[in-house]
Amino acid sequence: MSSFASSISKVFYGTFIHSVSLKEIEYVPKGLLFVDTHGRIAKIIKNVPKDQFRGALDGVEESKVVLLNDDQFIIPGFVDSHIHAPQYAYCGNGHDIPLLDWLDTLTFPHEAKFKDASYARRVYTKAVARSLRNGTTSACWFATIHLDATKELVKVIEEQGQRAYVGKVNMNQNSPEFLTETTQSSVADTRAFIEYVNAINHAQGFDTKPLVTPIITPRFAISCTSDLLTELGKLAAEFDIPIQSHLCETLNEIEFTKSLFPNSTDYTSVYADHGLLTHRSIMAHCVHIKDEELQLMKDRGAGVSHCASSNFNIKSGLANVRKMVDMDLKVGLGTDVAGGFSSSVLDAFRTARTCSIARSPDDSLLVPELFYLATVGGARVMALEDTIGNFVVGKEFDAILVNVAAKHSPLDVFEHDTIRTKFEKYLFVGDDRNNEKVYVQGKEVRLPDV
Ligand code: GUN
Ligand code: FE
Repeated sequence: MSSFASSISKVFYGTFIHSVSLKEIEYVPKGLLFVDTHGRIAKIIKNVPKDQFRGALDGVEESKVVLLNDDQFIIPGFVDSHIHAPQYAYCGNGHDIPLLDWLDTLTFPHEAKFKDASYARRVYTKAVARSLRNGTTSACWFATIHLDATKELVKVIEEQGQRAYVGKVNMNQNSPEFLTETTQSSVADTRAFIEYVNAINHAQGFDTKPLVTPIITPRFAISCTSDLLTELGKLAAEFDIPIQSHLCETLNEIEFTKSLFPNSTDYTSVYADHGLLTHRSIMAHCVHIKDEELQLMKDRGAGVSHCASSNFNIKSGLANVRKMVDMDLKVGLGTDVAGGFSSSVLDAFRTARTCSIARSPDDSLLVPELFYLATVGGARVMALEDTIGNFVVGKEFDAILVNVAAKHSPLDVFEHDTIRTKFEKYLFVGDDRNNEKVYVQGKEVRLPDV
């Protein structure tokens, strides 16, 4: 066998669909896509007639070929750039309560339960399984303030095989006593968590890129003192890791933040002033954000996680994503469970469209733009655009094998359907029943029954 052939673990033959730019979805019928043993895309050949694909295998055994039928296609896995793992336990509840009351009455009492790492494991097992089933191959997870429970989330993600950023949440003020850390314990536990994940990654070796990365996670400026934010900024720099938080989600949150940080020009500057606005920062929401703040985000290379479902559910408002996209700010989609009621990025995609139309119908985001945000946009927000997001030689293979004719499929296919209409039906009518297989770093994920 040639060295090329022996370096290949799988080959897909059939239709691939992916974003090649904000404006363009590429449909590749009769494509051959080779994945190597490190999970990277090694070679792509387009338009290979069916009776000729065997000849194009370049020595790779036919047993490694996954042959797609006319109702199946491969798309990049979805990126969920903002989701709270503990909140999955009450996903679908409490939507009539605005943010700050919702945090006090529902979220904080629930998150306190994650003091118990075995409870955490039970909830996290379901939360990650549901996310993977929905086709999320990369996720940015908030856990809680609890070190042991957050380690449990890492273990669950490693077991199930998702690519993820995982954050131990930091909170040392304006939070109930049962969910408030000291500055010292918050920093020490964050450092311990980062070292825990780094040790796991070292033990696995670096033949392939680690799937789990620790992420600095101040809940939002309201719940962290200036001292704590400063220390977190230092940790992000010391370990060269990403940062995630919430920004400009609701008006009274913004007013409260300004009163807490009078020395900063605005809410976005609070993060910038503490070393927390970098090219690896992911800021959820940005609904009521000013133009100067968007420009500051852009100047720093920070990204926005647009969480339209959450913004409707807890009535935060309509983000102006058209403006963000037009200024080439990095934007991805987030489910924001349990502000959002669904951990499906397909739902986030549909709600982002509704939000955009409600905001400006004549200038709303178009389907190719929304699909870009769900895949390549999310990859950019995670600063992983060289690794995932679409099918390019050298990137890693994170993908969904979609079957529009799957058992119990929510959509119907007719004779007139083409690959384009089938793909659109999946985007707007499909759900996890159509996600026949999910791959992360070239490996098929065993989709757990949830
Ligand atoms: N702001 C601070 N914490 C949260 C949270 O858990 N969810 C949402 N949607 N916004 C927040
Ligand atoms: Fe959130």
